Amino acid sequence: MPTDTRYAFDNRAEEAADQLQVLEACLDPITAAHLDRLGVPPGAHCWEVGAGAGSIARLLAELAGPTGSVTATDLDPARLAGAGGSVLVRRHDVRYEQPPGGPFDLIHARLLLLHLPERHEVLATLAGALRPGGLLLIEEFDRSPLTVLTPVDPGEQALFSRVVGTVLTVLGDRGADLDWARRVHGAMTGLGLTEVRTAVHAESWSHDGGARLHEINSRQLQGPLLAAGLTLDELTRFRALVRRRDFSALSYTLVSTSARRPV
Ligand SMILES: C[S@@+](CC[C@H](N)C(=O)[O-])C[C@H]1O[C@@H](n2cnc3c(N)ncnc32)[C@H](O)[C@@H]1O
Repeated sequence: MPTDTRYAFDNRAEEAADQLQVLEACLDPITAAHLDRLGVPPGAHCWEVGAGAGSIARLLAELAGPTGSVTATDLDPARLAGAGGSVLVRRHDVRYEQPPGGPFDLIHARLLLLHLPERHEVLATLAGALRPGGLLLIEEFDRSPLTVLTPVDPGEQALFSRVVGTVLTVLGDRGADLDWARRVHGAMTGLGLTEVRTAVHAESWSHDGGARLHEINSRQLQGPLLAAGLTLDELTRFRALVRRRDFSALSYTLVSTSARRPV
């Protein structure tokens, strides 16, 4: 059982800007394709939950246009300051607070519910905040085997697996569930949502792209990683490995699940 269920990362930490920027650079094209498929019509009222640095809130504002609205909420909106004039930014804890208005035509949350032990209740809250016919898109990382794709010696592969495995253990100790991504589909069906559809995406992450996330996470979580048994020497060698120009590893798998509230 997790002993401390506070969100593991800190949006005010020095590394948070880089962390959110790498997530947006890697994942926004995937999210944008799903939003394109689902259709966000002009005039739509949208809620971006756990909005991070706000790029998807800005995209939704573009799609919804001047007659629509976007509310971007986050437990800590420190990185949302520049979200843009047409995005309404609010500090909001989705676990305990009522939805910020609504009902909504579209609700999106990425890499949020996996961190929250209350994920089932939160999913029900989000489904309940949809207007009849409204759409929900939930995207989560899955526990994936993060295979190194470029030739490295067995010691380096073992180091990579050990550090990334310890990151996942630390997140798990804080209440994250890396198996939740595959349960979202069933949970949405159980809530009576329709048109439930799941798609997965993984790709190579190299030193100047997604692999940066490994280094950033290792810095943001350095204290808990050392407490969990890693040494500073291991973290230093891990950071040098993922920074290597020839380094590439398979990304976390992003599981995107969408559904509609029945009319
Ligand atoms: C991993 S970041 C993802 C940010 C953004 N969704 C993205 O994919 O780029 C998770 C975000 O959820 C926010 N968050 C964590 N717990 C939350 C809560 N209980 N209510 C609202 N937001 C929360 C964090 O502050 C952080 O900005």
